[in-house]
Formats: sequence, structure tokens, C-alpha cells
Amino acid sequence: MHKNTTTLPFGPNAPWLAPLAGYSDLPFRTLCRTFGAACTVTEMVSVKGLVYGGFGTERLLLTVPEDAPLVVQLFGSEPEIFERAMPLLLERGFTHFDLNAGCSVRKVNKSGSGSALMSRPALLLKIAETMVQAAGPGKVGVKMRLGFTPGEENFLEVGRALQDLGAAWLTLHPRTAKQLFGGEARWEAIGELARAVEIPVLASGDLFTAEDGARCLSETGCAGVMFARGALTDPMIFQRLKDILADRDPALRTAESLAEAALTHIRLCQELDQTPRAFRALRAFLPRYAKGFTGIRALRQALITCRNWDELTAMAGSIAHLAADHVPLDHSDLTQDL
Ligand SMILES: Cc1cc2nc3c(=O)[nH]c(=O)nc-3n(C[C@H](O)[C@H](O)[C@H](O)COP(=O)(O)O)c2cc1C
Repeated sequence: MHKNTTTLPFGPNAPWLAPLAGYSDLPFRTLCRTFGAACTVTEMVSVKGLVYGGFGTERLLLTVPEDAPLVVQLFGSEPEIFERAMPLLLERGFTHFDLNAGCSVRKVNKSGSGSALMSRPALLLKIAETMVQAAGPGKVGVKMRLGFTPGEENFLEVGRALQDLGAAWLTLHPRTAKQLFGGEARWEAIGELARAVEIPVLASGDLFTAEDGARCLSETGCAGVMFARGALTDPMIFQRLKDILADRDPALRTAESLAEAALTHIRLCQELDQTPRAFRALRAFLPRYAKGFTGIRALRQALITCRNWDELTAMAGSIAHLAADHVPLDHSDLTQDL
């Protein structure tokens, strides 16, 4: 039973780990918490999967009491299914929930879920209201995009209406759904939303480094930032942001520190989730940690042949000996298939 009754942390010094399908599982959330993530969000969970016992749903809800504060992110497009899913989650002790109105993956949008909800605001509001009624005040947030189609941005109207119906916080990824991950995130829209509502607004979008996080906080006046792709290449990004805000020199992203983080990640997987899926996920994580260092291609090749935890551990340790190649980090491989 997961008992998480704390109030969620909002503030410049309280960076969150974003929901990341395929990545923000229990071991990675735990790793990010050790490096200063104040709150974490699960991978998106299908409400249909919850209600009908879909394959893989249980894994997404794997947690331990120390995995707190935790927000469960839900996606779907039918209020009745949310109405049935919420008591199942509450019975299990989950307390805080986020509605996914931001994901632009084709498969999710085709079913009317994720950022497709921005094109049907009445439905989005109905679903959010269903969640708030089930979970109670202070327990539900919504993660939005600017709107569905460029030129038809409706995040301000939707944001105000969500506040009125009892949403406790909003997260904005300031691109339209149609934009996917193209162009730049329009941070100024985060500032507009933060000024338009009284509930906390979290920023998401192009926060690749701790410096980006600090700049976004000061430029937008948002309540806090949520690291996504930035945390996948640097799980220590949370601590670095806190260092910058405290006027301390943030530690550098070195091969040694990334190897250390990778080894901790492996240890956490062994403690928390030893499934073959978790093992495969680690093989996807390790090259991300080594991004920006020479020899990453050889590392990726070698990882394919890793068959057991010992081989994986040796490979993670080898990251310490890679040299920096000083090429700007490129995250496009994560989003090119969306
Ligand atoms: C691999 C991947 C998986 C993601 N999964 C989710 C998800 O499950 N739910 C969600 O709301 N957003 C998801 N996102 C969007 C991120 O939470 C975040 O809003 C987006 O990446 C913008 O932040 P960034 O530019 O700092 O990465 C995902 C993004 C990536 C790259």
C-alpha cells in the first residue's frame, strides 16, 4: 500500500522529474530523488488499462513507501473510465494525480487522449473534474500544451477553467500539439499562464541543463521547473539547479560523476526492480549518461551484448574513462519517432 499524504512541493528549489514514458520508472525516480528531485511523476498510465487490467499497467504503478511524494499520471479520453479508475488508485493509497493533456505521440492522440484533449476543452474539463471529485481538493494537476493547432492556442482559457474547477497545479509544455517537439518551447507563454492563475504553474520544455532551469525560473516567474530530457543525460541536474540558486558553483558533468550515477542506477534496479524489462531499460539509459563523451558508439554496441548484471556494471564503470568531446548535446533521437 502506497501512503503518500504529503502536500506537494512547489518552488524554485523544488525541481520535479517529469513523466517520461519508458523512463520515469521506480528505479529512475529513486535515482533522481537521491540527486534532489523534490517530486516525481510516473510514466503515463492508461485508465483503460487500469480498469480492464491491461498488460503492463501493474509495472507502471510499482512503488515503495520511500517513493514519495509521487504523482500518478493518467491518460484517456472517457470520463466514465476515469470515474472507474480513480477509486482503484485511491484504494491502493495513491493520493496525487496528473491528467495528461500534453502528450503528442500519434498513438495516444488517435484515441483522443493526451494533447488531443486540448482540441476538446469541454471534455478535458469534464475529465479533470471527475478526477478532482474523486481525489479531493489539492490532489490533481493537469499537464497541458499551448493548444492543439498553431494559431488556436487556448491554454489560458483552459488553465483558468481548470483552476475554477479545483485543479491544484498546472504544468505547461509551451508548444502546440501539432508542433510535437519542433521549434523552441515558448517560455514566455509559461509566464503568461503563471500571471493568469493563482495556482502553481510548473514549466516544462527545453530544460536541458540546470542553467536552463534557473533561466526559465527567472524569465517566467513560474512556481517551479520539471526536468525531462535533461534528467536523462544528467540525473544530477536537480542538485545542480539547487547549487546555482544558492550561488554555489554547480559540480561539472564529468565522466566520473556520470559513471557513479550509472552504477547507483544499476544498484537501485537490483534492489527495486530486477525484471528483464528493467535490465533492458538500463541498456537504454547508459548511453544517455555517456552523451557528449567520445566512445559512446562503442559503448552502445557493447551494451547490446551485455547479458547479466555484472557485465552491465562493468560497462557502467567504463563510462568514467570516456573523454569529453565538447559537442553540444543532441536530444533529437528521443523524439524523432513521435
Ligand atoms: C521519451 C519521452 C517520454 C515522455 N513521456 C511523457 C509522458 O508519459 N507524459 C507526459 O505528460 N509527457 C511525456 N513526455 C514529455 C515530457 O514530460 C516533457 O514535457 C517534454 O519532454 C518537454 O520537456 P524537455 O524539452 O525538457 O524534455 C515525454 C517526453 C519524452 C522525450
